Amino acid sequence: MRKETERLIALDREHTLLAHIGAVLGWDQETYMPEKAVDERAEQLALIEGLAHDKAVSPEIGELLRKIEGAAEHGQTKLEPAEAAFLRVLRKEYDKETKLPADLVIEMARETSVSQAVWAKARAGNDFAAFAPHLEKVIALNRRMAACLNPAAKPYDVLLDLYEDGATEASIGKVFGAMRKELVEILGKIRSRPQVDDSFLHKPVETEKQEKISKLLMDALGYDRKRGRLDTTAHPFTTTLGGDDVRITTKYLVDYFPSSMFSTIHESGHALYELGIAPGPEFSGTRLADAASMAIHESQSRMWENMIGRSKGFWKRRYSTLVELAAPALDGVGIDAFMRGINRVEPSLIRTEADEVTYGLHVILRFEMESALISGSLAVKDVPEAWNAKMKELLGVDVPDDGHGCLQDIHWSMGSFGYFPSYALGNLYAAQFMDTMRREIPGLDAAVEEGRLDVPLAWLREKVHAPGATWLPGELVKKATGASLDPSHFTAYLRRKYGEVYGF
Ligand code: CO
Repeated sequence: MRKETERLIALDREHTLLAHIGAVLGWDQETYMPEKAVDERAEQLALIEGLAHDKAVSPEIGELLRKIEGAAEHGQTKLEPAEAAFLRVLRKEYDKETKLPADLVIEMARETSVSQAVWAKARAGNDFAAFAPHLEKVIALNRRMAACLNPAAKPYDVLLDLYEDGATEASIGKVFGAMRKELVEILGKIRSRPQVDDSFLHKPVETEKQEKISKLLMDALGYDRKRGRLDTTAHPFTTTLGGDDVRITTKYLVDYFPSSMFSTIHESGHALYELGIAPGPEFSGTRLADAASMAIHESQSRMWENMIGRSKGFWKRRYSTLVELAAPALDGVGIDAFMRGINRVEPSLIRTEADEVTYGLHVILRFEMESALISGSLAVKDVPEAWNAKMKELLGVDVPDDGHGCLQDIHWSMGSFGYFPSYALGNLYAAQFMDTMRREIPGLDAAVEEGRLDVPLAWLREKVHAPGATWLPGELVKKATGASLDPSHFTAYLRRKYGEVYGF
């Protein structure tokens, strides 16, 4: 390895250390910090984030990158694949941090902090008109940002690429177009059948019992509690505090215990991914040891949560333990009724509460609206009407007010455009990984039924987790599955599963 690369690794490790220190402070703030500590904590976090930012944009990094890139271009040096990948990741992050003029960064920070506050009020009061001028500004700033980062590309493509390396509106549009048709059809079939009963899932189960269930699930998945832990927060999340310290949180609802169970499995899926990243000891603690993308991250959480955690095979040997631990909520409820209950599909207004069939439709709606807003083909004032029409078309539901419609998500007020597609891409990646795993491991389903979840985990470790950010998401999928992303894996999975649940 070139000595310039070695120096870059040392610099990047310091950046990672600062990021992890920030994560410790952030985790504490969300879990155990006393209320009145909030002001100084904000200062502590700002200081650490500032130091991390200074590290990331240090001119030395720019010089070293230029030097190696120049030598590689002129054929004076040949880069190892991992070294080339590390330099690619660092270059992208460096450009992202340094290509934006300071006045734009400051304006973005100022405007989004104002627009978030306005959005929260507007949502509570169903007042889209109050939020509209701020949304206009945020969209204009996003367009400027895209132009600074890559003036030659379509602005929405530049924004998508920030979250999903290499993705474009055309590539996602093609995948979503195929998925849209299928999902609408599957949903139509489900709606033509009688709704399943899940009333037993709303029987009270005390928090202590739910916590026991969550810990059992973490252990079952092979999440090493010596490298992580479980705590409670209003919104469940996963956070990486170090290479051997990835923590999750969950939320306990006494009158809906599946919420904590599946949040715990979901977040454990994220944690297993983070803990499995191992692109080689020379790159530990660098940004090559980060996830490949948000969507790949989401593929891991959703595979464990929905494809494994909501499957009959997974519960076959565990269900009696669950009935005991949740007693008396599930007394007299057989495993088949339980399976139908936890896989109930119900078109609803709110994305974050959506099941795995309707979820993709919520995301497609946002993808179509975002791209139209950024290109200018949709005017901000027309957002509510367009939103409501799409909800009717895709999900068949009537939106009663903007709080339950176009004002429900925080993302746009935070200046985040291009993020939503990751959520749905995760499901698609997960189904394709799952089909490949099943093809390559003939005994996979039997192993899951026997409770041997180390079998799928080992496959995921090797094919998906270990490389970290070595490959672009599109390359990773090709390497792991032998094909480009193909939404038919996901829709075929939905047809199989929900055909069984709803009997079509
Ligand atoms: Co997630």
